[in-house]
Amino acid sequence: MTESQPGGAAGKLWGGRFSRPTDALVDELNASIGFDRRLYRQDIMGSIAHVRMLARQGIIPKDDAAKIEQGLRQIYDEIRRGEHEFRLADEDIHLSVERRLREIIGPAAGRLHTGRSRNDQVALDFRLWTREALIRLAAGLTDTIGALLEIAERHPDAIMPGYTHVQRAQPVLLAHHMLAYVEMLFRDLDRLRDAYRRVNLSPLGAGALAGVTYPIDRQFVADLLGFDGVCANSLDAVSDRDFVVDLLSACAQIMLHLSRLAEEIILWSSSEFGFIELDDAFATGSSIMPQKKNPDVAELIRGKTGRVYGHLMGMLTVGKGLPLAYNKDLQEDKEGAFDTVDTVLLILRVLPPMLRTTRFRTDRMLTAAGEGFTLATDVADHLVRHGLPFREAHEIVGRVVAYCVEQGKDLPDLTPEEWGRFSPLLVESPPPLTPADAIAAREMLGGTGARHVADARIAAAAARDEWVRWVDGRAEALAAVSRRLGLEDTDDGPEGGPGDRNPR
Ligand code: ARG
Repeated sequence: MTESQPGGAAGKLWGGRFSRPTDALVDELNASIGFDRRLYRQDIMGSIAHVRMLARQGIIPKDDAAKIEQGLRQIYDEIRRGEHEFRLADEDIHLSVERRLREIIGPAAGRLHTGRSRNDQVALDFRLWTREALIRLAAGLTDTIGALLEIAERHPDAIMPGYTHVQRAQPVLLAHHMLAYVEMLFRDLDRLRDAYRRVNLSPLGAGALAGVTYPIDRQFVADLLGFDGVCANSLDAVSDRDFVVDLLSACAQIMLHLSRLAEEIILWSSSEFGFIELDDAFATGSSIMPQKKNPDVAELIRGKTGRVYGHLMGMLTVGKGLPLAYNKDLQEDKEGAFDTVDTVLLILRVLPPMLRTTRFRTDRMLTAAGEGFTLATDVADHLVRHGLPFREAHEIVGRVVAYCVEQGKDLPDLTPEEWGRFSPLLVESPPPLTPADAIAAREMLGGTGARHVADARIAAAAARDEWVRWVDGRAEALAAVSRRLGLEDTDDGPEGGPGDRNPR
């Protein structure tokens, strides 16, 4: 049997050794085209780089390579215009593009897959996609950090109660509280950059698992695609999905942090706290209770943390116990990652404008900061400064508080005579009793003193600027890769391009 069109009885590009078609249910289970179609751009980028290398190395004729590259660019445009038909029968994005290429340029299309396997191809596509996702996430984080810094800048002196166990503990500056989240998000940025460093290696050339028999130039392909190097071991190259775990665990930590902030937004917007009022554009109402203004956005941030953690656990579980090298289990690496990045990116777009439009009721914060014996530690410290051992001072102030609770008083309500019952020192030298005293006493590195917080804010703003430069630099480097490959219009927007849309 001679067949110029590959396909065999199975009607598949790999069908040569099959004499019967696959069961329809197997096709349904096996196909990843429904979700990996969103890798179309990365797939075409990788193929253009590969085919240029094949021609340069004399592995395939130059005119065939030119036809292939032109055809790939045409497919790219077709997909972006929404004209490409993603068929279940195509199985995955790799075969879908190759099928269309054959329709456009004929049998020369069959040379594209020389010295390549779908195993190194999919690893390449997913690394290209992941590194872009990391940069987009980093951009979202820098914007969120910017919004937090703006709050700190707008309210440099606002005092609020600091909490432990959700019990009022000691006064802190609102700006200091915001800067705590900024620190968390800086660590997240660091994790993204670290993940970027590891993902940015080219697996192409690993072939199915053992390398290939052609005189390929892996480094040339890696350079063309803007990778920092090549994966060192072919078996590892095709089966490593650590970069997905890196991405998902960084996202899990981001959500851990954002869900903490979300929880505070929820608490603070309650009438019990009354510390903030959300803008109408970032709150929702109740279908039955006309008075309600609910912090749904914050609740969804808190709630969506669950699916992000779930996807991390899913990926860890898919990877465990897989013998070398590629196994089809690895096809399960994508949907969770796509959903994670879609989810976190959407949150990182909603959160900054929500923060920027939130009204802080600093009067209520200040009142709360002075209530509930938040100055008790400072009174004890005051006694220590007058010579008492701290444990003794703690004991004395504890008795003062017990007395106040019994009398229904707060510390500032006590008369000198009442203070004198606990220690003469407290009459000779009156203790600090206002939240502002507590703030002023903490002008130390990392503390909530206003001067130090102002310095910390300025340092954080400078650090943020540096991260913005890093993000812009990487984004420009990635855009340059696309231009080198002749793909100009590559801005898929935050939610990805035509192949990217998951039904939600
Ligand atoms: N759709 C596959 C995946 O996502 C592509 C690799 C398939 N390789 C194979 N030998 N079946 O993993």
